[in-house]
Amino acid sequence: MKNIVTIAGGGSGYTPGIVLTLLKNQANFPIKEIRLYDTDRERNSDMEVIVDYLIKKNQSDITLTVTHDPKTAFTGVNFIFSQIRVGGIQMREIDEKIPLKYGIVGQETCGLGGFSYGMRSMKGFLEMVQHIQEYAPDAWILNYTNPETIISEAVRRKFPEAKIINACDMTISVEELIADSFGYDRTNWISYYYGLNHFGWYQSIYDTAEKRDIMPEIIEKIRTQGFNTEGLDPSWAKAFKLMEHMVDTFPEHLPNNYLEYYLYPNRIVESSNPTYTRANEIMDGRLKKIKETAEKIRSASSIEDIDYSSDSHGQYIVDIAVSILNDQNQRFMLIMPNKGAIPNLRQDAVVEVPCYVNAHGVEPISLRQDIPDFHKGLMEAQVASEKLLVDAFFEGSYQKALQAFTLNQSVPNADVAKKVLDELIEANGEYWVELS
Ligand code: G6P
Ligand code: MN
Repeated sequence: MKNIVTIAGGGSGYTPGIVLTLLKNQANFPIKEIRLYDTDRERNSDMEVIVDYLIKKNQSDITLTVTHDPKTAFTGVNFIFSQIRVGGIQMREIDEKIPLKYGIVGQETCGLGGFSYGMRSMKGFLEMVQHIQEYAPDAWILNYTNPETIISEAVRRKFPEAKIINACDMTISVEELIADSFGYDRTNWISYYYGLNHFGWYQSIYDTAEKRDIMPEIIEKIRTQGFNTEGLDPSWAKAFKLMEHMVDTFPEHLPNNYLEYYLYPNRIVESSNPTYTRANEIMDGRLKKIKETAEKIRSASSIEDIDYSSDSHGQYIVDIAVSILNDQNQRFMLIMPNKGAIPNLRQDAVVEVPCYVNAHGVEPISLRQDIPDFHKGLMEAQVASEKLLVDAFFEGSYQKALQAFTLNQSVPNADVAKKVLDELIEANGEYWVELS
C-alpha cells in the first residue's frame, strides 16, 4: 500500500529536508502523495515550487498537493507530520523579546517565551487535531510542534484517543555532536535518558560494540577536550559551549543542552541581544533562503544545484513512521505520559524517555530506578508550572496563568511574572484564549 503524507506547517524551512528524506526512504515507506498544508499561503506556495522541483529532480512520480484547507489536507491520509508554528516567526520574535525587556530569558520553548508560544500553540494545534479527528481519525500524527510537553499534555486532556506521537530531535542532535566530536558510532548506542521535553539527562549510554556504559568517558571528553562545533550555526555553537560548562559543573550525568535556560539564565540573558534574537537570525537566514530558492526556480527552467539535503531532523520522523508501518519495534526518545517510566516522579507528568515503536503504537521503557533529587526537584517544579499553564488554557484562568508564570524557574519573582504575563496577553491578542 502506498501512503499519503501531509506535512502540516508545509511552508516551514524544515520541509525540504523532510521531503528529501521521504524520497530517500521509498523502499520502506512508499508514498503516492505528499500534501503541504499551511495557513500562510505565500510561504506554502514558495515551498510548493521547491518541493515540486525536488520531486522532479529525483524522478519520482509522487503527487504534490498544496492547500490551506483542512479537509483537503487531511481526508484519506495515513500520516501527518506536524511542524506548525502558530503565529509564525513574527510571534516567535515577540516571545523572545518581551521577557528580555524585563531581564529574563527570552526563548522559543523555554521560560516565559515558551509559555507564550505554548498558549498559542495549544489553541492552533487542538483545532488541527479536531480536523484530523474528523477527516482522518485513523491517521498517525507525528508531532514536532513545540512546546512539546505542553502540546502533549493538552492533546491528551482534550483528545485522549488521538493517535499522536510527540518527538524531539534534540537528543539525537546531541548524540550526533558527541559522536562527531569524539569519533564514536552512535548507531551502536542504547541510550537511557529521562526528563521532560528540552529538560532532561542521560542516565547511561551503553555501547553495544564496547559492551559497556560509555557515558562517564564521554563526560570526561567533554570536560577535557570540548565539543567540535566547527561548521555549526554560531548560535548552536554558543549553546554547546554553555553545555560544556554545565557538564563540567555537574559531571555526574549528561544534560540536555536546553537546561542552560534554567540553570544559567544569568549567562543567557547577559549574552542575548534584546533587539536581535534567534527569530531575527532565522528571518535573515533560513526564511530568506526559501524565498531566494523559490525565486531562483521560478525564474529559471532548471537550476544548477539546490542547497538542501536530507537531514537527521527529517530522518528521525521518517524512521518513526517506518517503524510503525513495518512493525520494526525500533527505539526512539519520545514524549509520553509517565505512568511509572520514571518511578519516583508524579505519574501524570508528561516525560521524555526511550520507547519502542511498532504498529500498535508506543511502548515506553521504565527506568526501574529512581532519579536523583536534584533532577527530580527541578522537574517537579517544571511539570507543575507547565500543568498550571495548561489549566489556565482550558479554564481561561488568569490566576492559573500567573501561577504558572511565577513558578517557571527562569522567573525571579511574582512582580516580573505579572508584568510579562500582562504584556504577553496584549501582544498575543486573539492567538490566546481569553483569560479572566
Ligand atoms: C531543536 C529543538 C527544536 C527547536 C529547534 C530550534 O531542533 O529540538 O524543538 O525548535 O532546535 O532551532 P532554531 O534553529 O529554529 O532556533
Ligand atoms: Mn525539540
